[in-house]
Amino acid sequence: MTRTPIPGYHYDDPALPASPVTADDLEGAPVDAYLAAVRLRFGQWIADTCTRPYDTRWLAQQEEIALRHTTAKKNATDGARSVSHVPLRYLIAFIYPITATMRPFLAAKGHGEEEVESMHQVWFKAVTLQVSLWSRPYAGAAW
Ligand code: HEM
Repeated sequence: MTRTPIPGYHYDDPALPASPVTADDLEGAPVDAYLAAVRLRFGQWIADTCTRPYDTRWLAQQEEIALRHTTAKKNATDGARSVSHVPLRYLIAFIYPITATMRPFLAAKGHGEEEVESMHQVWFKAVTLQVSLWSRPYAGAAW
């Protein structure tokens, strides 16, 4: 299991393992069915991020997603036996890969460079906004 402060990021310490990070590094043990179920909901989230109005219902959904990363609700939906929560610093740091890896998908449908760049920026903004909302149950009164 990776013991770097944040999986997938490199550190100038040879004692710490380098990337690539695997699902097991993140969850601590093989939990294939759990990860497959989460992947499906992740796909729905991508569609929601791009198409749903950011209204009161959406805000409530944000809170639910946030809680599912915390001890309050993680593992409950799938009855998974896995780590108790996703550390907040992972959520924040994962804004980067979730943004960087999206670009090839945005560029794959023949849009011009300017339009792809603009969609990519909007995606980055939307993910940053959501992770900021998801910090609420972690931060308590400091939020
Ligand atoms: C920008 C960062 C992240 C985004 C956008 C994201 C997005 C999501 C979404 C949309 C869900 C599904 C929520 C639902 O059930 O409807 C989810 C669940 C989950 N995410 Fe993340 N996530 C992020 C970071 C992470 C990180 C860093 C980890 C682990 C290292 C992680 C692990 C999980 C797990 C295990 C679940 C399932 C929780 C449960 O219901 O038991 N996520 N995430």
